[in-house]
Amino acid sequence: MSERNKLVAGNWKMNGLRTSLGEVRAMVEGAANLPSTVQLAICPPATLLSEVTAAISGSSVSTGGQDCHFAVSGAHTGDISADMLKEIGARYVIVGHSERRADHGESDAVVASKALAGIKAGLIPIICVGETLAERDTGTTLEVVARQLTHSIPDEAGQKSFVIAYEPVWAIGTGRTPTVEQVEEVHVAIRASLKARFGEHAETVQLLYGGSVKPANAGELMHVRDVDGALVGGASLKAADFLAIAEASA
Ligand code: PGA
Repeated sequence: MSERNKLVAGNWKMNGLRTSLGEVRAMVEGAANLPSTVQLAICPPATLLSEVTAAISGSSVSTGGQDCHFAVSGAHTGDISADMLKEIGARYVIVGHSERRADHGESDAVVASKALAGIKAGLIPIICVGETLAERDTGTTLEVVARQLTHSIPDEAGQKSFVIAYEPVWAIGTGRTPTVEQVEEVHVAIRASLKARFGEHAETVQLLYGGSVKPANAGELMHVRDVDGALVGGASLKAADFLAIAEASA
């Protein structure tokens, strides 16, 4: 079904100071010229979320957090709760990014509990999955992604909005991307797995591709079957590149 809008989400990771707010203003200006079927979201570091949310106010652009804790509140030094993101005005929260899985040892079960915390707070979780290069090379990509989906998506997501980002670990920040055939194979498998578990609700779920998306390859990648947008890292820091990706995905 092609009624799903495209979502182009920018994951700024640990980048961005107040000097980046000019880029946000340029993104908001550019977003006004995008077709209404393309939505933009900016996920800045938590320190900038309040200012970025103020800068996008009144526009079609939304914001998201890059992570949240699974608990509602409590003694978790350095962490941020889903309610805190919601209060600041975020619409999305990225959970299970491979950098969180690798740097912080987050298991699928932890990712699922974070996604659930996001859902309970009224956020839309962007749940990330993706294979390593070793897994790709040994031909276990579909198996790995299926396992991650099963255990990283909470059952409660079946009644709520959520987004899946397929991000091959070996494509993140490397300039390497899978072929369109490889992207299609995984996205079609993800849709089938969601359908088997959640029925027709699966048709509402936006499936993003992420990993070295740039203006030069977005046109090709964003029109692969079952690709409903992109999760963009490096190229989301500059308004010109981010907007060019959004335009190419229309
Ligand atoms: P990249 O990152 O676009 O810089 O490869 C994507 C991501 O990690 O979400």
